[in-house]
Amino acid sequence: MKHNLNTSSFITSGIAASLIVLGAAASSNAIAADKQVEAADLVEIFQKLGGNHPGFRKAHAKGLCATGTFVPSPNEYFKDAALTSSGSLPVSMRFSIGGANPNSSENTPGVRGLGMQIKLPSGGVHTFTGNNTPVFAGKDPETFFGFLSTLLPDESGKPDMAKMMAFIQANPSVQASAMWNQKAKTPASFANTAYFGLHTFYFDSSSGQKTKFRWDIQPDLGVKTLEKDEAAKMPTAFLDDAFAKQLKDETVSFTIMASIGEAEDSEIDPSQQWPSERPQVALGKVTISTIGSDACKNTNYDPNRMSPGFTPSADPILRMRSPAYAISFGKRLSNQ
Ligand code: HEM
Repeated sequence: MKHNLNTSSFITSGIAASLIVLGAAASSNAIAADKQVEAADLVEIFQKLGGNHPGFRKAHAKGLCATGTFVPSPNEYFKDAALTSSGSLPVSMRFSIGGANPNSSENTPGVRGLGMQIKLPSGGVHTFTGNNTPVFAGKDPETFFGFLSTLLPDESGKPDMAKMMAFIQANPSVQASAMWNQKAKTPASFANTAYFGLHTFYFDSSSGQKTKFRWDIQPDLGVKTLEKDEAAKMPTAFLDDAFAKQLKDETVSFTIMASIGEAEDSEIDPSQQWPSERPQVALGKVTISTIGSDACKNTNYDPNRMSPGFTPSADPILRMRSPAYAISFGKRLSNQ
């Protein structure tokens, strides 16, 4: 598919959204993208973009802990999974704003995230950590890093928009994400946001059936966003209060969905969306019980920690996440 980027509106909306997502802060722009990118490089560039905030997560620094209960949905693809055959299970969650800045504004579009761990009777966990963006910015860590590098301020103190546009034009795998950013609106509430896993995972049943899938988490209260003028009137932090009000007045729940992949659907590239007509089944429903405690502060929502029968794909972005989360986890626990 050829994406026709409208440069000026992209700069005013999409790029602005990207910068907000990443919480760009003034810093030097000295990283060259000519070597194999490692997890520490990504953690470092997140900090260059969002600032150095000791003790906070190096991405998604601002967030809200929640707890809830998972009730599985029986279905033909996952029926003998411990995850879906153990009855109701406790859930730890953290809703978040993208970027390394713990003071990020909430009245602008950009990344909202959800880290979710379902606790199994065996003591293990199943993790679902996704963003509101339905497609990733790059096919591999090098492309993602290259894109982030173009967001760093140059000697004028601002990112060089021409350099960024040139990167997007030259790298087709960041274009779908750039197009999404261009149209993104401010989420009205964490409870009215859909979260996408983006990577491909597998489930191997005890009878030998292998299911290739991608997951997304849909809000049962529906997706709601704010128009630009509505968002501008909101305080810079309103998401916790909006969630608290909803939880007091109604049931807040989410349905975890799995799209079942076909042979031609990419297994290793989260910048390539699967066709929307793939069969979808529900894995289960998570109903929120509480929000606002400190319970998720010391949790690492590494998406590669899953329950028996599930395995990750060889997607290089997914593989990069475990070491990056571990570095960030270690740093924040030691107040770096
Ligand atoms: C190479 C790509 C990526 C890197 C290097 C990366 C890195 C990180 C790091 C360092 C953290 C903080 C971890 C911690 O301190 O516990 C984090 C958190 C998070 N990331 Fe990523 N990430 C990547 C891709 C993604 C993708 C593809 C998604 C969505 C599908 C995502 C969603 C999230 C969310 C929701 C959180 C917050 C989890 C929490 O609340 O603890 N990340 N990421």
